[in-house]
Amino acid sequence: MSASERTQWKSRLGFVLAASGSAIGLGNIVFFGANAYKFGGGAFYVPYLVALFVVGIPMMILEFGIGHRSRVAFPQTLGRMAGRAGEFVGWWALFNAVIITMYYVTILGWVVGMLIGALGPLWEPASPMPNYAMETLPNPQGYFFDTLSSWTVVGFVALVWLANVGICINGARSIESTVKFFVPAMWIMMLALIVRGLTLDGGFDGVMYLFNPDFSAMSGLDVWRGAFSQIFFSLSLGFGVLSVYASYLPKKSDTTSMGLQTALMNCSFEYIAGFAIFSMLFAFAIVPKASTLAMSFFVLPQGIAQLPGGAVTFGVLFFGLLLVAGLSSSVSLVEGLAAAAIDKFRVKRGIVLALLFSVGVLGSMVFALPIVIDSSLAGNGTLGLTLLDLFDHKAFGYGLLLVGLAECIVVGWIFGAQRLIDHVNRHTKFTLGTGYAHLIKFIIPLTITALLVLGFLHECGTLGDPDGDVSYPYGQGLVDPEAIGSTGWSWVADAVPIVWIAFTILGALVMTWLPAARRDDPGDDDA
Ligand code: TRP
Repeated sequence: MSASERTQWKSRLGFVLAASGSAIGLGNIVFFGANAYKFGGGAFYVPYLVALFVVGIPMMILEFGIGHRSRVAFPQTLGRMAGRAGEFVGWWALFNAVIITMYYVTILGWVVGMLIGALGPLWEPASPMPNYAMETLPNPQGYFFDTLSSWTVVGFVALVWLANVGICINGARSIESTVKFFVPAMWIMMLALIVRGLTLDGGFDGVMYLFNPDFSAMSGLDVWRGAFSQIFFSLSLGFGVLSVYASYLPKKSDTTSMGLQTALMNCSFEYIAGFAIFSMLFAFAIVPKASTLAMSFFVLPQGIAQLPGGAVTFGVLFFGLLLVAGLSSSVSLVEGLAAAAIDKFRVKRGIVLALLFSVGVLGSMVFALPIVIDSSLAGNGTLGLTLLDLFDHKAFGYGLLLVGLAECIVVGWIFGAQRLIDHVNRHTKFTLGTGYAHLIKFIIPLTITALLVLGFLHECGTLGDPDGDVSYPYGQGLVDPEAIGSTGWSWVADAVPIVWIAFTILGALVMTWLPAARRDDPGDDDA
């Protein structure tokens, strides 16, 4: 396919829906809820808003702008700006996002299982748990662990991957037809959950939890790093996917306004998702031990089970929402990778998608199968979850920020911030000035570097406990090193950083050095 045959969005609304579909996902519900809870609700919102305005919105404008200007996929876009090094950064971003997508789809596979459960079995007193070595657990927890440890997970994961490649089958065109239904559906389902939550006795107290700043917790480094990583993940920044979506826009497009719209829509969704979650937690006085997934997968369902108005209805709404929101996010990576491969090797879309499907299913199995094979893991250290959390820590906590930093260097310093500003200012209501150049060249890279360096030093123990005297009300993520140590799988935990670095760097090197197929280069849109 020559570049002139690239598909385009039929309408600008189609693009905004697709971009917000990519942005709104599990991050807005599962991860935001868990982070906000872990960091004490109100303590999280100041760092969160700072991250949104200082880094989130400007980076979104940057990713939209560069993709729109070059009208090619992400590695090629950066390649035109900074040669081979730029292309390498682009592939590295995609490979980092591939790891995220592998476990993201595994989680979506579990969501499918829970959605089926929500039709009935999830709400029964206890699960029979045929695969499960431990004593019987009460539902919904029992049903969740049963789902994790049963072989049907393989089928669910394959199904989610199939849906992903299916939605990408005709590129922007099929994505647009899908998000036209998915994105409004997400808002409707979320609003229904919020109304239900807020009308519960005591539900409103949960909302107040999100608006009650705790200044002492804000002095911890973790809360800041958590907020910035959350903003990157939630806005789909550093994945190398938004610029591809923007490359399918018509020439005269106001990418700055669309960037603002997308970012604000995503974060409003995220914040009000917090209303739904916290109103239910508070109304039923459930105190989650805030491990990332537990909160959405069985703590919140504990509340849903007691809802006047029907556990089935609201359970289906909740897991249906997670599935729809998650799918419209993961497709953006499938499209980002497919476009990059097509732009580089001129291969047929069908072939790329078939390949992505096969590799994707295998990769997601790495996260799904440990618990299936050794179901005793599900109960104690939850290795499957822990493995996921360990990768999450690298890809989510470091990878996205590193990509963001590299993007700023490529665009701000090598390509020239002013050239980007000139491009995005051509058709916009919001003209950007030199302040934006300062953000891209100095403020954002310095902020990210500080977070990365301090975070790394803390983790190595050089600076002691990352949080000093700060103690978060509900502490702890999923990682429980002692629990892993006791399972005989601890070598896996040690191998994670090596696998992460090897996979992303080697993958990106290979893709960069492979020769590109000859092409009719459309050139950048600088006219
Ligand atoms: N923004 C999404 C969220 O909040 C995450 C995401 C974006 C994603 N692009 C992705 C996940 C691609 C997997 C693959 O959930």
